Amino acid sequence: MTPDEFREYGHKLIDWIADYRATIAARPVRATTAPGEVRAGLPSEPPAEAQPFDAILTDFEARIVPGLTHWQHPRFFGYFPANAALPSVLGDLLSTGLGVLGLNWQACPALTELEELTCDWVRQMVGLSAAWSGVIQDTASTASLLALLCARERASDFSLVRGGMQAEAKPHVVYVSTQSHSSIEKAALLAGFGRENVRAVPVDEKFALRADALDAAIRADLAAGKVPCAVVVTTGTTASTALDPVAAVAELAGRYELWLHVDAAMAGSAMILPECRWMWDGVERADSIVFNPHKWLGAVFDCSLFYVRDTEHLIRVMSTSPSYLRTAADGRATNYRDWGIPLGRRFRALKLWCLIRSEGVSGLQARLRRDIANAKWLAERVAATPNWRVVAPVPLQTVCLRHEPPGLAGESLDNHTRAWAEHVNASGAAYLTPAVLDGRWMVRVSVGSLTTERADVDALWGVMREAAETAG
Ligand SMILES: Cc1ncc(COP(=O)(O)O)c(C=O)c1O
Repeated sequence: MTPDEFREYGHKLIDWIADYRATIAARPVRATTAPGEVRAGLPSEPPAEAQPFDAILTDFEARIVPGLTHWQHPRFFGYFPANAALPSVLGDLLSTGLGVLGLNWQACPALTELEELTCDWVRQMVGLSAAWSGVIQDTASTASLLALLCARERASDFSLVRGGMQAEAKPHVVYVSTQSHSSIEKAALLAGFGRENVRAVPVDEKFALRADALDAAIRADLAAGKVPCAVVVTTGTTASTALDPVAAVAELAGRYELWLHVDAAMAGSAMILPECRWMWDGVERADSIVFNPHKWLGAVFDCSLFYVRDTEHLIRVMSTSPSYLRTAADGRATNYRDWGIPLGRRFRALKLWCLIRSEGVSGLQARLRRDIANAKWLAERVAATPNWRVVAPVPLQTVCLRHEPPGLAGESLDNHTRAWAEHVNASGAAYLTPAVLDGRWMVRVSVGSLTTERADVDALWGVMREAAETAG
């Protein structure tokens, strides 16, 4: 493709995306295809000869689009939002079009320096002190793995330069809560702790980690000759946006010399609102934090921020310095390859930079406040309606609810919950994700897509009530 052809098809594609976003509300939210249908509609072998880009676009519309679940739809209430604000889409396009890689500072100085700058802008936006330095990772899963690798190496005094964890005399233990995201357990397993050394600490009635239970678990492990190594708290759990008591856990982390990692993948966005910062009170005493601007804030996936206080330690854990990557600028510039796992890095900072500049901090704050108010509005309606119940506190934008008709309990209530949620999803009118909380199925309404307004939440409430009446 020549640059002129690129210009022609690029214009077409941008027009297509703009039309898609402008008319998205008219589409069914969930994909309408059956398993295997998208693949079956496409040739199973690659084309031997070049094909015109127009033909690719035609197939895209006919074969691919029906297989999309529309995450940017105003009635997408599933999972957590993965907002792709249009300025950040343009920033991402720029990054892709430039095709530069930041293997080290010299390989693309602007890439490194804009990443430093945007991480620092966001640090200021969420009210963290200047003690923190950030780096963009692909996902929170990666960032949490880095945190546990750092924890492991600090507690084991750099076992990696010896025999690794396999040569450690005592098992090292990681503490999470029963509500931690599955990525935390995965990180602990990948970091070599072993499932036997991951403790899922019980939660209280608000689904927040119980500091007293954490203390007891640490003492039991010490008594058994194990090495308490790290604790992960969540600000905004996945099931119900519960808030672990960061300050109380920081106290224990300090006392027992544990690495404290704060998983604020979702709720980190809310920290741009000063009125929400109590939710992670004590965060300044943590060792690392992850927060995903690719969720609620609006930076198109993937864009996860990992903040640490001790950058020297992170670099010591992650750095390798082969001769072909050394440059005269080493020591005077940041080499982000030493702040994470991959060597190559995309120019991800562009999408964050475009987002923050285009919307301004006040624009971003206004959108998040709108979503919090909409969630509260829904929770009030649910709570005031007979046979409906809000089953967890609503500190942010997620409402966990259940329709509890008289006579239904246990498994039959679970069946009813899943049936009416599926009814909503199959209708295409809205999209919800049910989940298990406290051993029972409930439905999460995750408000916060870019274009979700009060009218969409109101429409959802109508659709949910109808589905609950009609579903089995
Ligand atoms: C609290 C929490 N942590 C971690 C993750 C994983 O995020 P990622 O997809 O960026 O790995 C999620 C995803 O929803 C989450 O809710």
